[in-house]
Amino acid sequence: MSFEPRILGFLCNWCSYAGADLAGVSRIQYPTNMRVIRVMCSGRVDPKFIFHAFELGIDGVFVMGCHPGDCHYLEGNYEAITKFDMTQKFLKSINFDKRVRLDWVSASEGTRFGEVVTEFIKHIKELGPSPLSGGKPDEDILDKLKAIKLAAGSNRMRALVGREKTLLESENVYGEQIIEQRFNILMDKAIKDEFERHRVLVALEKDSNSVKDLAVELSIDPSIVLEHVITLKTRGLVDFQEIKGNTPIFMRLWVK
Ligand code: FES
Repeated sequence: MSFEPRILGFLCNWCSYAGADLAGVSRIQYPTNMRVIRVMCSGRVDPKFIFHAFELGIDGVFVMGCHPGDCHYLEGNYEAITKFDMTQKFLKSINFDKRVRLDWVSASEGTRFGEVVTEFIKHIKELGPSPLSGGKPDEDILDKLKAIKLAAGSNRMRALVGREKTLLESENVYGEQIIEQRFNILMDKAIKDEFERHRVLVALEKDSNSVKDLAVELSIDPSIVLEHVITLKTRGLVDFQEIKGNTPIFMRLWVK
């Protein structure tokens, strides 16, 4: 039996949703696998919407907005690009980066809407079903996705994404301009750190544990796990629980 992917589309109200509408009234034929959520602007799409869709077993997510320069809110689609880039980088760690797409469709591009949707559905069909779809989702990927969702919402990532344009185009607080290559290195490191850190947090949510056992469970170097535990403790998310033998055990701390 051929696989029929479940696709979620976030369409901006002013261009892409109108483009979809035009495709409908023009009777343009395209597959019906995509369910649509209308948002006021592509910049409104929080990365956690995308991660949540994947948690629920969606096979692919399509974000569509006005062409660059045409956003109803002037720069919303540039924000969408920044958020989307971060989202895709996080998703690469679980091999889901090819299951997301960002594209531009104007209100007059009904035909183009049909074409890009058809092409994306074909692409997802080639990738096959998400390992999180069906009755038995892959627990390891689900845990990693949970860590990604938390990491992307961390203050550090939000600050970086929110200030990317300012940092690249003007200056940071020390009066220096950050060139794109340097910013990308900074971003890649933050993504790696926050992903690993939140994997530690997700593991501690399941059970209190020692640094050594966490390192084995997550296949991360013990010295790095220790660093993450200390940072999480500083953030008030983890605390020391007890000493077992000679080994300190750490637990997840829930903020009231
Ligand atoms: S209003 Fe369409 S992308 Fe902003």
